[in-house]
Amino acid sequence: MIRKIIEIGHPTLREVAKAVPKADIASKEIQRLVEDLIDTMRYANGAGLAATQIAVPLRVCVIEVKKNPRYPYKPDIPLTILINPKITFLTDKLISVYEGCLSVPNLRGQVERCPEIKVEGLDRNGERINFVSKGISAGTFQHEIDHLDGLLFTDLLKGANSLSTLEEFAVHHEEAFKEKVMTIVEQYGS
Ligand code: NI
Repeated sequence: MIRKIIEIGHPTLREVAKAVPKADIASKEIQRLVEDLIDTMRYANGAGLAATQIAVPLRVCVIEVKKNPRYPYKPDIPLTILINPKITFLTDKLISVYEGCLSVPNLRGQVERCPEIKVEGLDRNGERINFVSKGISAGTFQHEIDHLDGLLFTDLLKGANSLSTLEEFAVHHEEAFKEKVMTIVEQYGS
């Protein structure tokens, strides 16, 4: 079911979401939440969606990038369901990237992200997952997991002066950013 995505200013986006007890993962409620997150993310052309964005303060998020029209330059990521995820930074390096968010309509802004991370968590069957993500894709995972801690990309801006509407981004910044993304993908493979 497609759910309503709440927007910046809604207090639930600022909550630190609660962990899902492992024994609850198989429940109808959590399985339905996962389905609704996938449906809503795909409907809205998101690269990911966190439960807090549909006003459910639980540590569940979904990520998928497949020729995304909102982010045509993003490398693909297969559908990934993360419950109680945790990120470990594997390098001190940072890359500066433009991000957007379904809960922050019509804006893009530049934030710094770690380009090499380890992601651990549980999948929708309660099985442990553990993988390394690099480059642009690593930023996507950090963005979604930030939502579970009540953070939005607008909190991480180096300066509010990088904010841009989608229209102005397309005209003034997208071309240069696409080239930067290509160099990041060359370096990190994703
Ligand atoms: Ni977001």
